[in-house]
Amino acid sequence: MRAFVSRHLPGDALSRLPSDVQAVVWPGDGPPPYDTLAREAAASDGLLCLLTDRVDDALLGAAPRLRVVSQMAVGVDNIDLHAATARGIPVGHTPGVLAETTADLAWALVLAASRRITEAERFVRAGRWTTWGPELLCGVDVHGGTLGVVGMGAIGRAVARRAKGFDMSVVYASPTTRDVDDATATALDDLLAVADVVSLHCALTPATRSLIGARELALMKPTAVLVNAARGGVVDEAALVQALRAGRLFAAGLDVYATEPLPARSPLLELPNVVLTPHIGSASLATRARMARMAVDNLVAGLRGRPLPHCANPAVLA
Ligand code: GLV
Repeated sequence: MRAFVSRHLPGDALSRLPSDVQAVVWPGDGPPPYDTLAREAAASDGLLCLLTDRVDDALLGAAPRLRVVSQMAVGVDNIDLHAATARGIPVGHTPGVLAETTADLAWALVLAASRRITEAERFVRAGRWTTWGPELLCGVDVHGGTLGVVGMGAIGRAVARRAKGFDMSVVYASPTTRDVDDATATALDDLLAVADVVSLHCALTPATRSLIGARELALMKPTAVLVNAARGGVVDEAALVQALRAGRLFAAGLDVYATEPLPARSPLLELPNVVLTPHIGSASLATRARMARMAVDNLVAGLRGRPLPHCANPAVLA
């Protein structure tokens, strides 16, 4: 059997492949071009891909041998799940294993945006620090405020848990109401009105695309901070730029963007009150190695015709 792997994987994950599976690894530093991905998928029994690969209906339709798509990520919005399900192709992903690491990153953004850490670092590096100043680079307090978590899955819960250490109260809005210790379920509009920090942790679906637009941003406190470590499409980026520019929001911490990599002409790059990281939510050495192993295990299960340990389209089994 042949499996196309769309990027070099961290650690020794590929050593888990059985001897009858031949892995063809894309040698580039970046993603394979779409046409290459489609050609390789068409010649393969399995595809191990990343969130930078577009796996659409046309690609799946032209790949009659394909028995499994295994993505090394929890989010699968780059994959047409309906098309995969309709073709009987299970799609693997890597939930759970990255929740704590992504929660750490979300908190790094909360603290950096609230306390103007990257702005302050740029200030020091530019040689502009001449004296201690009573009003120099003052931010907003994190401790004692209200954290609003949008999307209470594994990552949202890990983010909420960390709020205890900052004496924060936690409210959350989630399509599926869950029992979460010390957190209060609330409607999104109410969450936006009361939260000092709003942190987004929902999947990108048609229902959550542009969930946070001009109207929602206007509901937030002018002293509030917005953090997005989910998917860029959950926020209307143009509306966010306007809100940040107008000071209708204190700051934002962003790990994800409408277009990735962030275009050089993005107005976000001009704003002092936004902290920008390059989609590194799950990027710790240990977590990326675990994700790679999970993705290989999903791939092997699919190639063997067994249920995937972590399947993003369980309807395919029906
Ligand atoms: C990263 O964004 C992931 O979905 O795993």
